[in-house]
Amino acid sequence: MIFIDACFKKPTPTAPAWLMRQAGRYLSEYLATRAKAKDFIDFCRRSDLAAEATLQPVEILGVDAAIIFSDILVVPLEMGMKLEFERGAGPVLPRPIQNESDIDGLSDNAVDRLGYVYDALRLTREHLAPDKALIGFAGSPWTLATYMIEGGGSKTYAIAKKMAYSAPDMLHKLLRKLSDAISGYLLRQIDAGANAVQIFDSWGGALEKEAFFEFSWSYMLKIAERIKSARPDIPVILFSKGAGGYLESIGGDFDAFGVDWNTPIERAKNLLFDRYALQGNMEPARLYDKAAIESGVREIARVMGKADGYIFNLGHGMQPDFSRENAKFLVDFVHQTFAR
Ligand code: CP3
Repeated sequence: MIFIDACFKKPTPTAPAWLMRQAGRYLSEYLATRAKAKDFIDFCRRSDLAAEATLQPVEILGVDAAIIFSDILVVPLEMGMKLEFERGAGPVLPRPIQNESDIDGLSDNAVDRLGYVYDALRLTREHLAPDKALIGFAGSPWTLATYMIEGGGSKTYAIAKKMAYSAPDMLHKLLRKLSDAISGYLLRQIDAGANAVQIFDSWGGALEKEAFFEFSWSYMLKIAERIKSARPDIPVILFSKGAGGYLESIGGDFDAFGVDWNTPIERAKNLLFDRYALQGNMEPARLYDKAAIESGVREIARVMGKADGYIFNLGHGMQPDFSRENAKFLVDFVHQTFAR
């Protein structure tokens, strides 16, 4: 699996490529699979449908890794929180966490209630070609906490930040509980066939530097360390959107760092590439245009060269209005450009 080799900085015949949020509405096949489910949560719970959606981008785009189709919010869901996905409006958690007793009320059994994700992983691994890696994932404790406290997406994170500055012990209690659940969840995903795991810290960059390390990064590292001590053979990838200004202070036991598109890849290379594999970071909007794709890939290749330990990805996720043709063009162009 060239994806796994690259995570461990071993030589590969070209740079492996996959795209964050590669399963999604830009694929008509995804929409057809989704139509078989009652709603988005039912889709996540139907292991056969989840496996189907996971395999689609591998077959259509030729990426080197599949990422299990699910959502980061299944963890709060199975901790007992009410969750709704309203079409077009994003996730809504109508009874957000407001106090200590709400935190105490969260179930400790989420890891056991997520069996449908493990089933989907087993089913996917059975059908996936042996040279393609299967990536398991979870949201970071901080990113999940923002949804659980705000009751959905947010532009300012005002309520979560208010807790961070005015009731830090309460926030830490929630983050500890989430970290325990996520560590167990990722280990169970590995047992079910995940060949690597990624933690998505989509909203880490909402925090100033000191707060980022206190409330987000330290918990991601704790989870990574638990996984690395139990399963040193499994690469751990950490992705924090918006942490580009904090790279000087990044360290700890994990394998690959996901670079977002706001961070110049040269900066990530200079500060991290001696210790970590790097994954990223083409601006996703370049997918609107083939010439923009070519110049984006060439610029990354100019910086990274053909060094071992580079994994191509976008600097954030695929969007529903992207074209599959351009996505396929991108993956082929990456494989060609980075061929040794
Ligand atoms: O990458 C993949 O292909 C695997 C599947 C995956 C989904 N969500 C499926 C999904 C992954 C890795 C996620 C992670 C996720 N979910 C994140 C972190 C990644 C990031 O982009 O930073 C976040 C913040 C969420 C929460 C979430 N789930 C939101 C905000 C939304 C609504 C987005 C929108 O565009 O409407 C979802 C729903 C969701 N999760 C969809 C998919 C394919 C779209 C749902 C649909 O089919 O209508």
